Amino acid sequence: MQSTGRLLTNAADAVLEASIFGSFTRIGFDVRSRSGKWREPPRLDGKTILVTGASSGIGRAIAVGLAKLGAELWITGRNEQRLAETARSVKSAGGRARLVVADLVVASQVKDLVERVVADASALDGIVHNAGALFGDYREAPDGTELTVATHVIAPFRVTELLLPHLRPARSVLVTVSSGGMYTERFDLARLEMDASEYRGAVAYARAKRAQVVLASEWQRRLSPAVSSYSAHPGWVNTEGLQGALAGMSRLGPLLRSPDQGADTIVWLVGEALAGGDVPQPGFWHDRRRRGEYYRPGTRPGRLEALSEGDSLWEWCASRA
Ligand SMILES: NC(=O)c1ccc[n+]([C@@H]2O[C@H](COP(=O)([O-])OP(=O)(O)OC[C@H]3O[C@@H](n4cnc5c(N)ncnc54)[C@H](OP(=O)(O)O)[C@@H]3O)[C@@H](O)[C@H]2O)c1
Repeated sequence: MQSTGRLLTNAADAVLEASIFGSFTRIGFDVRSRSGKWREPPRLDGKTILVTGASSGIGRAIAVGLAKLGAELWITGRNEQRLAETARSVKSAGGRARLVVADLVVASQVKDLVERVVADASALDGIVHNAGALFGDYREAPDGTELTVATHVIAPFRVTELLLPHLRPARSVLVTVSSGGMYTERFDLARLEMDASEYRGAVAYARAKRAQVVLASEWQRRLSPAVSSYSAHPGWVNTEGLQGALAGMSRLGPLLRSPDQGADTIVWLVGEALAGGDVPQPGFWHDRRRRGEYYRPGTRPGRLEALSEGDSLWEWCASRA
């Protein structure tokens, strides 16, 4: 039987979850972390993790959070100066970060990134796919792929494929930073890559973030138990990315989460997955709990579709990457 405290914690969590606003803002983080009496995640001494999009916002906080637990880091982003700032923050937290400047939508730069990591690290224990952005207007990657899908779907696929032989065979982890925005869109491969005439930034972003959740599940299906793969959403977090793309959200001011709060579940998942005991259940995580993947009518796939969507996305990524 559950204790009264546990029942109250679950009830508070469910009320927040249903409200969305309460769940995604820092209210959700504050209530859940206090009522759930969250503890420090397990130590990561001797583990090596690659964090993409580590030059800013949530990615920087993930890198620092992992370093505080003892992990060694590889950090990547396009802006060298800001990556160097992250490396300094990691050092202040007592850790070490090696940085590689790379634009993840440029295949040759991903190849160079992987060669650097493989040349220096005996094996990687995990990858956090965090790099991402919402583009208000239609743009293309150098290979002609629409930029939202190139950044969030094809880039993590390419990075993972190239690094897969170098992940520590016994136990490693992939965490993909998706978004609660994905709840608004159904997964539909035929509508994933938008063309210029129909492009709407928020829709393209939500579809790509939904596809990340499907891809993370497909990695789990194909690679477990050696690799544990999760997707997570950080809530609404006060970062440059949010201020640039969703200026209206900035009006939430103090209700927005800090980057550390947005990073918490991602850091926790890495720690728990590599800790040596039972790994957290695969799925879509927020505030240290596995969450439903479908809340909005019309977004849940049919039974047959659900069986094949991961495979078809994987094949599509393989053909594009
Ligand atoms: N903030 C939120 O409320 C929120 C909510 C839900 C989900 N998310 C997700 O959380 C992740 C981090 O977002 P954030 O809010 O922290 O944004 P941010 O501060 O703008 O950080 C985005 C990071 O992604 C990197 N990046 C973007 N495109 C890249 C590319 N082509 N190649 C390499 N690196 C690239 C950026 O690197 P450079 O700056 O060096 O180019 C930067 O380090 C994203 O995936 C975002 O979709 C954020």
